[in-house]
Amino acid sequence: MDTKTIRFIRRGELVALGNVPPSRTLLEVLREDLGATGTKEGCGEGDCGACTVVLGEAVDGQLRYRAVNSCIRLAHSVDGLAVWTVEDLAGPDGALHPAQEAMVRCHGSQCGFCTPGFVMSLFGMYQNHVCHGRTITRALAQEELSGNLCRCTGYRPILDAAQQMAQLPRVAVDEPALLAQLRSLAADQAGDGAYLAPTTLAGLLAARAAHPQAQVVAGCTDVGLWVTKQHREFAQVLDVTRAAELRRVEDYPQHIAIGAAVSLTDAYAALVAQRPQLKTFADRFAGLPVRNAGTLGGNVANGSPIGDSMPLLIALGARLVLMREGGHRHVALEDFYTGYRRNVLAADELVAWVLVPKPHPAEFLRAYKISKRFDDDISAVCLVVRLELQDGRVAAVGIGAGGVAATPVRAVRTEAFLAGRPWTEATAREAARVLRDEFQPISDMRASAGYRSQVLGNLMHRLWLESQGEDRINLERFVLEEVAA
Ligand code: FES
Ligand code: FES
Repeated sequence: MDTKTIRFIRRGELVALGNVPPSRTLLEVLREDLGATGTKEGCGEGDCGACTVVLGEAVDGQLRYRAVNSCIRLAHSVDGLAVWTVEDLAGPDGALHPAQEAMVRCHGSQCGFCTPGFVMSLFGMYQNHVCHGRTITRALAQEELSGNLCRCTGYRPILDAAQQMAQLPRVAVDEPALLAQLRSLAADQAGDGAYLAPTTLAGLLAARAAHPQAQVVAGCTDVGLWVTKQHREFAQVLDVTRAAELRRVEDYPQHIAIGAAVSLTDAYAALVAQRPQLKTFADRFAGLPVRNAGTLGGNVANGSPIGDSMPLLIALGARLVLMREGGHRHVALEDFYTGYRRNVLAADELVAWVLVPKPHPAEFLRAYKISKRFDDDISAVCLVVRLELQDGRVAAVGIGAGGVAATPVRAVRTEAFLAGRPWTEATAREAARVLRDEFQPISDMRASAGYRSQVLGNLMHRLWLESQGEDRINLERFVLEEVAA
């Protein structure tokens, strides 16, 4: 089956590539087809950031810049966008971009393998912050470099570079010219043949009905690994991320509705706007390039038992809107899953919206992620507890857990135990015992079954302490000291 010619803008020039198979990654196209070997492959799974490139997209007439992992990005997904690699930053005279120059001045590179990826994350920060007059704090630099790993330099010089690049002579992208170029590509982004990317919800549902065998992808941050690690090839791909209606977060009196094509970055921003205490949890979801590419709808539909979104959404009482041509239905998130990575979706259905209730005034919410690294890591255990405390009692409760069963789960027995009880230390201790008994986790490379069980109960005790104002154990209390750049 043929595919549409991929067209994107690089260095101000139109790049057009025909006959690119639907499973081919952006990294393969850059390195092997375009000879842009400055972009490196390290892990091939979205972990190390060596392959980071920056995408530019016209959103409401403005350019939006996002650092993404090219190793797990399907090449067709950049059709109609602007792409920058590390080769594209220096000026025509060879003058380094401030993101590069700062790395040189701060000694931010040793073996150099990670360096192109760091430079591209720095370029993304430069466009999104420095060019808008915003200061890059140490904490912001650490947060936005969370998806880049370095094995030899150490991070201090790289964080210094992030803060120092603003002090170098400013370099600007010619945004009006680039926006005009992107506008000329915009009319022809729907894809066809082996890579379908409908630009409307109606078109997406029609394509789903007509091609039920097509591999559905959103940000491709997990499906990309099926390509790079399992060498799977897809005869046909259906990309949901171009459907305009699903790229929005909508605000209603009782809930927000997050479209299935909304990136994790934007979805978590909407959740944090409602519940600021989720900021640290949101920032610890993978690294920024994964959050920039992956979607909340994709995380939910993928259904990994160690995905971090689902325990949170289950605790919040989220519901899904599943759509097919001519109809839709609502499903509670915990009822969506029927087994390990299996769900209730029919062959012609898609996850369209995630509906998240707004907070109750008496809500006490904590989201705990236990992983070996602070960020850019996968949970061994994730536990999210939402209590509504009224007159010293648990008036309502929602508990979602990950890493303890074959699917993300609601802790129904622990919820039943807590409902209506006085919220006391004795109650919390007993709830910890019930919670430990409720699940029989497995041992794997991330944690042993015994550890997971123990941690589940410990987190319930931590919840109790935090509900009593004991904040010193809360990660959000750890603030990186500003270091003079
Ligand atoms: Fe490691 Fe892409 S090669 S994130
Ligand atoms: Fe060697 Fe970063 S400089 S991995």
